[in-house]
Amino acid sequence: LNYPTAQFMTSAPTLAKCPEDTGAEVAFAGRSNAGKSSAINALTQQKALARTSRTPGRTQLINFFSVMNNEACRLVDLPGYGYAQVPEAVKLEWQKHLSDYLHSRLSLRGLVLLMDARHPLTEFDQMMLGFADQRDMPVHILLTKADKLKKGPASAALQKVRSRLQEWEDLVSVQLFSSLKRDGVDSLAQRLDQWLHT
Ligand code: GTP
Ligand code: MG
Repeated sequence: LNYPTAQFMTSAPTLAKCPEDTGAEVAFAGRSNAGKSSAINALTQQKALARTSRTPGRTQLINFFSVMNNEACRLVDLPGYGYAQVPEAVKLEWQKHLSDYLHSRLSLRGLVLLMDARHPLTEFDQMMLGFADQRDMPVHILLTKADKLKKGPASAALQKVRSRLQEWEDLVSVQLFSSLKRDGVDSLAQRLDQWLHT
């Protein structure tokens, strides 16, 4: 698909406010600051389509982008989870919206789960894998900020995550990714094509 044609559609605070649940979409999830918005910008070759920030917790709404001028084909930037500095009540509220969205969104074809390559598979990441597993939904893991690791440690991180997820290899794929260097953008696009084309 021609991802650079992506355009902002809308932001939704809750599942009820999301665009109509038809067509196909893929969602980008991961801890706060993992690089979700940056990955969407790298994929779409746009500097500021999705808002990025050094301050974790920037994306607080579910943001929808349409691809190829077609509202039935969407990329979704989810709020980051695990941000320590928001009140517990707010955290629980976000967690509920996230879980609602992941459990009941019918047009959701697959989940891109981003993890900092230096700290993969946190408790939150495993919770997200659990949500996806409950629905038999495929997950593509991006080990982000790979530019911060040398080649050896980067491929060691990749092997480690792959071997820990071996029992899920039918549903889960893993790759290294760097928005900064644009490394891994093509393999990400190929995976999304598989999910969105059907
Ligand atoms: P929230 O919206 O808060 O959940 O964060 P996010 O996951 O959308 O992260 P975002 O894309 O805003 O990136 C967070 C920070 O990491 C920013 O300062 C980015 O510039 C930086 N960053 C993102 N991707 C990369 C990368 O591939 N390499 C490096 N070195 N920095 C990156
Ligand atoms: Mg973001």
